Amino acid sequence: MKKKAGEIAEKVLSAEEVQIISHIDADGITSASIAYRALERAGEAVEVEFIKQLDEAKIEEIRDGDHGLLWFTDLGSGQINSLKGLDCVITDHHEPVNREEKLGIKERENILNYSTSEILKLNPHHHGINGAKELSGSGTTYLVAKQMDRKNKDLSKLAVLGAVGDLQASEGGRLIGKNREILQDGVEEGVVEKRTDASLYGIESRPIPKVLEYASDPILPGLSGQESACVNFLVENDIQLKENGRWNRWYLLSKEEKRKILSGLAKRMLNQGFPVRNVKRLIGEIYEFPEEERGTMLHQAKEFSTLLNSCGRYGEGKIGLKVCLGDRDEYLKKAKDLLEGHQKILVDCLDYVESIGVEERDHFQFFHGQDRIPDTVVGTVAGMVLSSGDVDKKLPIVAFARSDERDGIKVSSRGTKQLVDKGLDLSVIMDECSKEVGGEGGGHDVAAGAFIPHGKEEEFLEEVGDMIDSQLDW
Ligand code: C5P
Ligand code: ZN
Repeated sequence: MKKKAGEIAEKVLSAEEVQIISHIDADGITSASIAYRALERAGEAVEVEFIKQLDEAKIEEIRDGDHGLLWFTDLGSGQINSLKGLDCVITDHHEPVNREEKLGIKERENILNYSTSEILKLNPHHHGINGAKELSGSGTTYLVAKQMDRKNKDLSKLAVLGAVGDLQASEGGRLIGKNREILQDGVEEGVVEKRTDASLYGIESRPIPKVLEYASDPILPGLSGQESACVNFLVENDIQLKENGRWNRWYLLSKEEKRKILSGLAKRMLNQGFPVRNVKRLIGEIYEFPEEERGTMLHQAKEFSTLLNSCGRYGEGKIGLKVCLGDRDEYLKKAKDLLEGHQKILVDCLDYVESIGVEERDHFQFFHGQDRIPDTVVGTVAGMVLSSGDVDKKLPIVAFARSDERDGIKVSSRGTKQLVDKGLDLSVIMDECSKEVGGEGGGHDVAAGAFIPHGKEEEFLEEVGDMIDSQLDW
């Protein structure tokens, strides 16, 4: 990987002008920020564009446009065949689309023997590294930045942020593999700190009762979604909720207080018959940025990345970019406003799914968000529904939403680690089944998306069911 990263570094450094084209989520925003800062430090002219999906229409537009060297970050692997002839490099972690490369992933010994186009690309899948768990788009981009100049080691902070935003630390509660090496760079540079604490969202910036009330991973029985129950639980455990009229925060609690709450939560979960696996998810490694102000969303990777994701969801990747590059004023405020709006929208979407119900099919479960769920959040909603505890986690979930921009249906699919261990690969399913009906798709084994034409929904779902059936050992 180092050699390949070095080749890409050389190519971008020798270009006069670089256009970064990146994916519009937290990982894509941090990828673009890393590439931007590294190029800026090298004195190069840089432009950045964020896109939801690199589809054929977009590629045509790029071909027709006037640009310098193109640097695709956190996307491009699935479209490599269509990019032929363009002066570009790719740093991405999505699954490569070419069949021989895909075989390479499954049969790891063949990985280094793949052969494809002449485009310079860095992708963990080509090196026996799992792109869904061990290295993100921002991490891949960081490896190139580090080869551009060792001074860019401080950008490891953004790579950690991107990996957390792509949920690469959520499964085992910590960053693993190549991500861990990048984390180590951040610790050495003094820009990242790691420690073990509650893995619940909001321990930095939310009032403690809200941390419990909004907990969705894991679900806290009798507390998630129930404000007064959360307050009572904390009072029973002698936790001071306010100090001098200000809400107390988790990070200000003593070790003893945290221990009391966590063991109380664990007891509740076990009493309700939740598996130990879920209880273990209460605690994880958390990543903090000492340069940022304590008690703000920017201080902790989980909250910061959520802020970036909400910029992306609403087409405002550039706001996220500005915040990553250091704006703590106008753009930070705009980002916070977007997050607040996003959280309201998510609540409405979850209410909508509850009202229509999730339909169980033979090998998966399904809901159609129609035009009530924006296509930019349907994936998040599908993931939340699957981890909500209200549906069967043994079945992958597939969700639709009408696309607001393009005429067609946006598809999102989500699985679990257990399903992937059994052979589920949603990336292949979304890619192949969407092609069958004239659409396009791809992604990761555990989370993938697609876009299909109107009227092809049922045909597509049938293909999906058959393919899940053949992948899983039922
Ligand atoms: O859109 P959604 O959130 O469901 O996508 C899940 C994952 O699949 C994301 O990482 C996204 O970038 C990827 N994806 C892809 N190609 C598509 C659609 C989604 O690589 N056509
Ligand atoms: Zn990514």
